[in-house]
Amino acid sequence: APDISVANVQAHQARLQTIANQNGGNRAHGRPGFRASIDFVQGQLNAAGYTTRLVQFTSNGATGWDLIADWPGGDGNNILMSGSHLDSVNAGPGINDNGSGSAALLEIALTVSRMNVHPQRHLRFGWWGAEELGLVGSTFYVNNLARTERAKIKGYLNFDMLGSPNPGYFVYDSAGQPTGSTTLQHALEAHFTALGVPTELISVGGRSDHAAFARAGIPTGGLFTGAEVIKTAAQAQKWGGTSGVAFDRCYHRSCDTSTNVNVTALDRMVDAVADAIWSLSGVPVAAH
Ligand code: PHE
Ligand code: CA
Ligand code: ZN
Ligand code: ZN
Ligand code: ZN
Repeated sequence: APDISVANVQAHQARLQTIANQNGGNRAHGRPGFRASIDFVQGQLNAAGYTTRLVQFTSNGATGWDLIADWPGGDGNNILMSGSHLDSVNAGPGINDNGSGSAALLEIALTVSRMNVHPQRHLRFGWWGAEELGLVGSTFYVNNLARTERAKIKGYLNFDMLGSPNPGYFVYDSAGQPTGSTTLQHALEAHFTALGVPTELISVGGRSDHAAFARAGIPTGGLFTGAEVIKTAAQAQKWGGTSGVAFDRCYHRSCDTSTNVNVTALDRMVDAVADAIWSLSGVPVAAH
């Protein structure tokens, strides 16, 4: 798989930061910064040749949207979907949670376009609304798919918080979720194995959008660099960083800004995502 440019991922995060700055300091559901975030990502994808659509829903008396992007081609009956929530909490700009996953997925989608890859499987990307209100957007999307359409999605990869400033390298535990998939888990671990960076399995339960897909019986996996939980001494030993401090001490706070990102972690994570998407979707070798 290609080496994804972390500088480009950071540039997308900077755009999200600017959007928050111009819209009252956040990108939350029901606030103008969320809609501006959707418009930014959709504009980039349209220019890159994606077929995009918005899925509109209502939550808490406000309109929200999911952005769905399809890369033309591949087996439409065998879809690999990847997603990240694009909304922040009201308290801040949400540049790690989840500007990091959103920007990483955008750069991967743009790399697919630049390289003009044609995987065997159909690639679909989703940017979810109102995750912070309880997985509202992803649940709406899954629940409103026709049963035949739902059955075409053979796997879902979730990316929520990929650049935590005091990072851990967590892979969703296939044994710790109802539709956990060892195939997806192993594909997400491959890049870390190659780098010699240890990972830990984590049970994320219902804490992010993969849970909406799991409830529909779709195999799921994901990556995570940690939120409010405190890094242990053993974790600091193997990963560096600071023990006794949260993985992200700005989690859900106003200080979750462009400076609240560990670039090394973000780079490893986005490259691991690309490895997984390339291998799982069956990009022809000649395209590498
Ligand atoms: N979904 C949580 C949030 O957005 C973050 C999280 C992701 C927590 C994955 C645990 C596991 O606040
Ligand atoms: Ca890279
Ligand atoms: Zn959050
Ligand atoms: Zn999140
Ligand atoms: Zn790799």
